[in-house]
Amino acid sequence: MNPADLARAFAPQVLAWQRAHGRQGLPWQAVRDPYRVWLSEIMLQQTQVVTVVGYYARFLERFPNVHALAAAPQADVLALWSGLGYYSRARNLHRCAQTVVAQHGGEFPPDSAVLATLPGIGRSTAAAIAAFCFDERAAILDGNVKRVLARVLAYGEDLAASRFEKTLLAQAQALLPAAADMPRYTQAMMDLGATLCRLREPLCGQCPVQGLCQGHAQGKPMAFPVKRRKIKRSVRHNAWLWVQRGDELWLQQRPSSGVWAGLLSLPEFSDVPALEAAMAPWPGEVTVGAPQTHVLTHLDWHLQPVLWRLPARLGAAKCAALEALLGPGRWLTPEQALAAGLPAPLRKLLLAPALA
Ligand code: ADE
Repeated sequence: MNPADLARAFAPQVLAWQRAHGRQGLPWQAVRDPYRVWLSEIMLQQTQVVTVVGYYARFLERFPNVHALAAAPQADVLALWSGLGYYSRARNLHRCAQTVVAQHGGEFPPDSAVLATLPGIGRSTAAAIAAFCFDERAAILDGNVKRVLARVLAYGEDLAASRFEKTLLAQAQALLPAAADMPRYTQAMMDLGATLCRLREPLCGQCPVQGLCQGHAQGKPMAFPVKRRKIKRSVRHNAWLWVQRGDELWLQQRPSSGVWAGLLSLPEFSDVPALEAAMAPWPGEVTVGAPQTHVLTHLDWHLQPVLWRLPARLGAAKCAALEALLGPGRWLTPEQALAAGLPAPLRKLLLAPALA
């Protein structure tokens, strides 16, 4: 099919499908307030819809507008984000709110190119906000949409290379409908990617553009998108020290960069023997818990928790020496800890009764 015929047929079919079969009634749909749309798009970047719904409502209740968010302490923002993961999103969200207030009079700029200059807003997210809120004819190209388009176009180039991604973006742009249909079309592309044109099990029989799809015509939709560069994953094992004094445990403040930047977490040791050697001067009742696995983009991180229950009466000098070993942090009850910004596996551990 030539590109002009495809461009004529594609958007109307996608739009009709979204009206009848797309996701409806999500709390951020049919919303034109850029603050709400932006918040939902950032939350949805690496997190499933079912998880986001609750966080989204709690976040809006505490921070109903960009001014409230900009004025909040970072710790409050991280605490409400706690459990969603990818915390740089929360830090950028906060910085973005402050930039919108300080440099744009509290209004999100109605232009995807300007939106993309704000902290944490990439090109595709900027396009989504501009399409949903301002009807801008800007094509989104997140992972799901890349897959849909690569299949429809049987696009055989490696999208890890930026020049090929740019070519796909130009083709995405050529398929867009008129401005007034941009909100529904943008949602439709997201919905197609999430519900039908799935990574491992595409439901071609239900797809509104099956007849236009080159990948399907070639009998191999799953061959697209082509991925030539593989990321190398690695595995890391560490021991995690849960040191308990009365009803409090020690939480260490993580540095402001790297994994879990700025969150409170348990002190980490290279392995259980290293932890036991470091803790040898402090008497304790020791329990080794079930290992926690945390999957990061390039890393499977296995954390072996060790509960070290200190004796009820530990002298002030011994306690000070222990705090010096543990690094900057504080004593908190599990309830207080759960109200702070915590890495997801620690939250899970605190909520699981196995070690407490
Ligand atoms: N993922 C990213 N944006 C989304 C949206 N607006 N609706 C559903 N899933 C999404």
